[in-house]
Amino acid sequence: MKHVLLGITGGIAAYKAAELVRLLRQQNYDVRVVMTDSAMKFITPLTLQALSGHAVHSKLLDASEENAMGHINLARWADILLIAPATANCIAKFTHGLADDLLSTLFLVVQCPIYIAPAMNQSMWHNLATQDNIAQLSQRGVSLIGPESGSQACGETGLGRMSEPCDIVAALHAPEQILLNKKLLITAGPTREPLDPVRYISNRSSGKMGYALAEQAEKMGAEVTLISGPVTLPQPKNVHVIMVETAAEMYSSVMQHVALQDMMIAAAAVADYTPAVVQSDKIKKQGDESTLALQKTQDIIACVASLANKPFTVGFAAETKNLEHYAQDKLQRKNLDIIAANLVGQAEGGFDSAVNALQVYWRDGNTNFPMTNKNELASQLLALISERYHAKNSA
Ligand code: PMT
Repeated sequence: MKHVLLGITGGIAAYKAAELVRLLRQQNYDVRVVMTDSAMKFITPLTLQALSGHAVHSKLLDASEENAMGHINLARWADILLIAPATANCIAKFTHGLADDLLSTLFLVVQCPIYIAPAMNQSMWHNLATQDNIAQLSQRGVSLIGPESGSQACGETGLGRMSEPCDIVAALHAPEQILLNKKLLITAGPTREPLDPVRYISNRSSGKMGYALAEQAEKMGAEVTLISGPVTLPQPKNVHVIMVETAAEMYSSVMQHVALQDMMIAAAAVADYTPAVVQSDKIKKQGDESTLALQKTQDIIACVASLANKPFTVGFAAETKNLEHYAQDKLQRKNLDIIAANLVGQAEGGFDSAVNALQVYWRDGNTNFPMTNKNELASQLLALISERYHAKNSA
């Protein structure tokens, strides 16, 4: 369970802190609240104590509080320091390192990520002093949530409203920008290999695994191009999506976009064979048996991995047995940096399922990601890819 130290400062938006604590608890965060003296004029500590399940902290060097959970222990306890609302005065104190109360002292002591959700009158927000302070805090790694634009308690309209509690909680969930400025090419979904104008050969891939990778990679800061076979999923936001149908179309689209990519992940289930001839008219029923002449498709990921300037190349292996053996073989044969192997055709996971599990191999290591939803699995795999990418490029 993650520990959130919530600092509440003295602005009218302090009343929203009650809802914020409730939502954080709902998301399974353990929340301890620190209030400034002026925050207590807007909302009572008792409300926040009842919602957080812990006594509220407000005094620096208070003998009783130091015995229970002193300021240093409180700072050590925190996984996240969130200050919401953060007034212009507190932001100025944080910027200049003043430590004249419990919250500003904690700001100097904590080693964890810090988030601030400013709330103030729009003129105060636009004032150069505030803007300079915000810029300095951002440069030091403090994350800013909001503020939002809209009507303000003072009757004015503009930028300065505290973000809604649900948006603040969502911002805490935002993944680390470990793929910032990285270009990432992903293939997803099945291919369809036409036999005639009405029939095709395909497979059970829904595209969920590849789309989850595209969505999570974008959230981690990557510039994502997703080359997708026919699926019924909504397109991920801020991702360049190119829809294709056949293995040949996927091959040419990948080759067209692969230059300058830092990484490629091939999650698509590409047909290994395609009909040798596509009939222009519907094939008619003839006799009791029929044979189909097939020819091999291009192995897209192997072609990418053979390029002189190849991106960091990650393949998938979908197998019904001997997972490790086949995965290791594909890793070597296709010259991949990583292979993520999954069992398919089982009761749970694999094709068209919301969940999946992966056994991941690279030249000198391996790891397992147990069954979980495909978004979570995509985050875990991307974190590993980023780590292996940096290990390879710093070697
Ligand atoms: O789409 P979902 O329903 O969410 O299901 C996810 C998934 C099971 C499709 C996915 O997790 C997965 O395993 N994708 C790869 C499926 C596959 O085709 O595996 P393979 O073992 O046949 O191919 C090995 C690798 O070569 C894959 O990266 C594949 O994209 C690539 N390949 C294969 C053939 C080909 N002609 N070109 C390729 O690039």
